[in-house]
Amino acid sequence: MNILKIAHRGAKAYEPENTLKAFQKALELNSDGIELDVHLSADQQIIVIHDETIDRTTNGKGLVNTFSLSELKSFLIDGKYQISTLNEVFDLVDKKCLINIELKGLGTPSKVVQLIEQYISEKNWNYNHFIISSFDWNMLEETSNLNPNIPIGVLTEENLDTALAFAEKIKAKAIHPDFQLLNTENTKRIQEKGFLVLPWTVNSTEDIQKVKSYKVDGIISDNPDKI
Ligand code: G3P
Ligand code: CA
Repeated sequence: MNILKIAHRGAKAYEPENTLKAFQKALELNSDGIELDVHLSADQQIIVIHDETIDRTTNGKGLVNTFSLSELKSFLIDGKYQISTLNEVFDLVDKKCLINIELKGLGTPSKVVQLIEQYISEKNWNYNHFIISSFDWNMLEETSNLNPNIPIGVLTEENLDTALAFAEKIKAKAIHPDFQLLNTENTKRIQEKGFLVLPWTVNSTEDIQKVKSYKVDGIISDNPDKI
């Protein structure tokens, strides 16, 4: 079985996280997928950024949702890269790999569903190009209610059984567990219920080998080339 290599926040080990440069690097490394995080700007654009503030990753300070897109574009990541929108990432990826969109910010479910539907109806993408995940399961339920065809991955760092029960309820496609929760037995149990197992964030060669021995379906890693 081929294991899916998913580049966490782009190929974060090599380029600044969640930038177009990092997603380009992920494509160059032949990743099967990229993972990214989204928040909304003040003018309701979908912004690809992990934290709710721009403090850690840019030369600015403040909450993402208090700036317009054009204001956000004026800040720099590592002195040279701009913050990206989800549309820009879709256009860069252009159906070349799976896109795992992690919903972080308030209001992201409806905006992301709208954008996915637009790319499917206007640009010949299909649902298999996407998987939406979140630690906020209310957002996953909202996504599934808005469009039950969109594949969903249930993120968990705590309890696999609770995640499994929720995945069954919303007919998710995958469980995305903290890799430290997994072993061979529970991986098999999740797969027998019909879900993919896509653990994160597995970076060291040793951990990658260990998780591979559980026969997971894919791995989310800062260095997908090591998988
Ligand atoms: O999607 C898995 C992983 O990205 C979740 O944690 O903090 O890196 O978004 P975080
Ligand atoms: Ca993430």
